[in-house]
Amino acid sequence: MMRKLLISAVSALALGTGAALAAGAEGHMEGVDFSFEGPFGTYDQAQLRRGLQVVQEVCTACHGLKFVPLRSLADAGGPQIPGDDVRAYAADLSIIDAETGEERPRKETDMFPAVSGEGMGPDLSLMAKARAGYHGPYGTGLSQLFNGMGGPEYIVSILNSYTGEEKEEAGSIFYENTAFPGGWIAMPPPLSDELVEFADGHPNDQHHLSVDAAAFLMWAAEPKMMARKQSGFVAVLLLTLLTSLLYLTNKRIWAPHKGKKTTV
Ligand code: HEC
Repeated sequence: MMRKLLISAVSALALGTGAALAAGAEGHMEGVDFSFEGPFGTYDQAQLRRGLQVVQEVCTACHGLKFVPLRSLADAGGPQIPGDDVRAYAADLSIIDAETGEERPRKETDMFPAVSGEGMGPDLSLMAKARAGYHGPYGTGLSQLFNGMGGPEYIVSILNSYTGEEKEEAGSIFYENTAFPGGWIAMPPPLSDELVEFADGHPNDQHHLSVDAAAFLMWAAEPKMMARKQSGFVAVLLLTLLTSLLYLTNKRIWAPHKGKKTTV
């Protein structure tokens, strides 16, 4: 019995992870091994800091992050930028005060700016969760457990799948992109090699820049992922313990009645 269970569990795992490789039928999807994937994955603080830099220097020209509080940059498990630096960072971004109607520097209690207007893109606060690179359900759903839904992979793929072709339609320019559903996107290719310089000399070719930006956007969309995984793990442990106790109790309760022939 136990052996059978074990064998089916192992084959389910194998199927689950195998399916992830086959995933991404809609547009070309690039697989990336992010540090935060898997049941024990965690965000890589240095990567989040680099990602913030890429997003700040490049993407916020056209995209807002209006649901992300600036103070969360200091949170444990995130980029964990020192409080003073967060305040200085916030102060560089102005805001029209809702009460006075006047422009003032942002405080760390404000959100990242919203961006709207002609040629601007959608808000990126939740984009890494709104999009899926791996479309499920695949078999057991275990591929999602180990690889996530593929939101950050989708972002990496979009940023690296321009073919260089352009077309004009109804006065707007569209760029061919093999990862974007439909194949043509209104976003001009935002990244190129060495567009952003990192203080620590980390590789800054286009691919690395896109992976760091996608990791930051995943954190922005789900800053509490690590805490959630941890409580999930504890819950699974407790449930396993409870199940074994119930199994043993059940055996004990019925033990006197088992194996006895009833005589009529
Ligand atoms: C020049 C302006 C501009 C810049 C810079 C820019 N974007 Fe965009 N972005 C757009 C526009 C416009 C769209 C909407 C495209 C469409 O729907 O066809 C878009 C859409 C997107 C989408 C959504 C695709 C979807 O599935 O709807 C993502 C993700 C994205 N951008 C990420 C980024 C990231 C990450 C950066 C920085 C590395 C960035 N963008 C920089 C203009 C820009």
